[in-house]
Amino acid sequence: MSYNLLKGKRGIIFGALDEHSIAWKTAEQVHKEGGKFVLTNAPIAMRMGQINELAESTNSEIIPADATSIEDLENLVEKSIEILGGKIDFVLHSIGMSVNVRKGNAYTHQNYSFTHKGWDVSAVSFHKVMQVLYQKDAMNEWGSIVALTYMASQRVFPDYNDMADNKAYLESIARSFGYFFGRDKKVRVNTISQSPTPTTAGQGVKGFDGFIAYAEKMSPLGNATAIDCANYTVAMFSDLTKRVTLQNLYNDGGFSNMGVSNEVMESFMK
Ligand SMILES: NC(=O)c1ccc[n+]([C@@H]2O[C@H](COP(=O)([O-])OP(=O)(O)OC[C@H]3O[C@@H](n4cnc5c(N)ncnc54)[C@H](O)[C@@H]3O)[C@@H](O)[C@H]2O)c1
Repeated sequence: MSYNLLKGKRGIIFGALDEHSIAWKTAEQVHKEGGKFVLTNAPIAMRMGQINELAESTNSEIIPADATSIEDLENLVEKSIEILGGKIDFVLHSIGMSVNVRKGNAYTHQNYSFTHKGWDVSAVSFHKVMQVLYQKDAMNEWGSIVALTYMASQRVFPDYNDMADNKAYLESIARSFGYFFGRDKKVRVNTISQSPTPTTAGQGVKGFDGFIAYAEKMSPLGNATAIDCANYTVAMFSDLTKRVTLQNLYNDGGFSNMGVSNEVMESFMK
């Protein structure tokens, strides 16, 4: 069902790699709700991914940008305004990557140049995106900026590795930049903390199947899917959530407030 919630709104969606990506599902839902947008991803992901299919089905253009490069981001923002015919109303930051996770380095055995790279891609890129938007005065009033995060920023999940620290940093950037964006431009900034979801980034985490099964059994509503996340993001882009800002919003079937569930208890009782 569609409610035309984003009719007339223009945006930028980062991070659609393939059909499993949360950003891919979000682009599809935003399109259904009448929003127009530019799709962007790192140049390397363009070669590996299937983003052209998504661009075709959502009638959108693609502008490659490495989210750690200010030059790329400036070009992205300028061109997006040209293509879409006006300032931006919504932005999705759906970007995450840890080189330590990729190389199999444990949290206790990090290579700090990898740590630095992962931090830049997964966390500082959010600051860079917002700083470019802010300095170019590229957002319309009552616009909405959302980044995706995970519960390991707040609680210990050992195999989430240095991504846990990156997500904590990302959530802090949302609050800190959200203050200035709200005060000066009437733009809201939030993070959505999503259940474990089977995507390329998600499945890169060691023990992911265990993660997802455990979260499913702990959550009274079960894990939120990528489409659930897409729908929540649409709501956050719409005018129905105009004064929600500086928040870390849980889209996790209730997981974040659970201590233990009957189902998890049962697996320990013989
Ligand atoms: N999958 C999960 O379990 C889960 C749970 C909670 C939060 N998240 C978060 O959701 C977001 C999206 O991840 P996903 O699960 O859809 O996986 P995904 O692998 O489909 O998306 C990650 C994206 O980041 C992009 N990216 C990496 N480096 C980049 C760079 N330098 N510049 C621009 N883009 C770059 C990749 O190309 C890819 O499109 C991430 O922030 C992730 O941490 C995922």
